Amino acid sequence: MLDRRIIDALNAQINLEMHSGYVYMALSARMSEQNWDGFAKWFLIQYHEEMYHAMKIYKYLLDQGAPILLKPVEAAHLPEKISVLEAFKKSLEHEQRVTASIHSLVRLARELNDYATEQFLQWYVKEQVEEEKNATENIVHVERIQDSTSGLYFLDKKLGKRELEAPTNFAEFIAGEEEEE
Ligand code: FEO
Repeated sequence: MLDRRIIDALNAQINLEMHSGYVYMALSARMSEQNWDGFAKWFLIQYHEEMYHAMKIYKYLLDQGAPILLKPVEAAHLPEKISVLEAFKKSLEHEQRVTASIHSLVRLARELNDYATEQFLQWYVKEQVEEEKNATENIVHVERIQDSTSGLYFLDKKLGKRELEAPTNFAEFIAGEEEEE
C-alpha cells in the first residue's frame, strides 16, 4: 500500500493535470474566437494530452489499490482577450508550474523509499522536458514573426497539422485495452 502522503500528492497531481486541461481548453477557445483555427486545434490536442496525464495517474492509483480523491478543479484564469504570443507564454508558465509539482512528487517518493512511484513518475519527468520545449519553441516562433499577419497565418496552418498521440478512450485505457504511450 502506498504511503498516505504520496496518495494525497498523486491525487493533487491528477487535479493539477485536470486544471492544465482547463487552461488549454480556455486557450483553445480564445484562439477560436479570433479565428486562429490551427492554434485552437494545437491547444485542444494539448487538452487531450492533459486528460491523459491525469488518467495515467488515476490508473496508477487504482492499480496500487489506493483511493481516488477528486477535488474541485481550479479555473483557467484567462482574460477574455489574449494574443497568440500571450497564449503561448501562458502555456510555458503553466508547464513550469507542472514541472515543479512533478519534481516535488519525485522528491517525496524518494524520501519515502517508494521505488515504484519514483519509477512511474519518470515518464512525467521526461514528458515535462518535452512540454516545456514545445511551449518555448512556440514562443520563439511567434516572437520571430512579431506582428506579421502572414507569418502568423502560416504558423497557424503549421501548428494546425498537429496530431493527437495520446489515448482518448479512457474506459479502454483503464481496462488495459488501449496502449499507453
Ligand atoms: Fe501534464 Fe502539460 O503537463
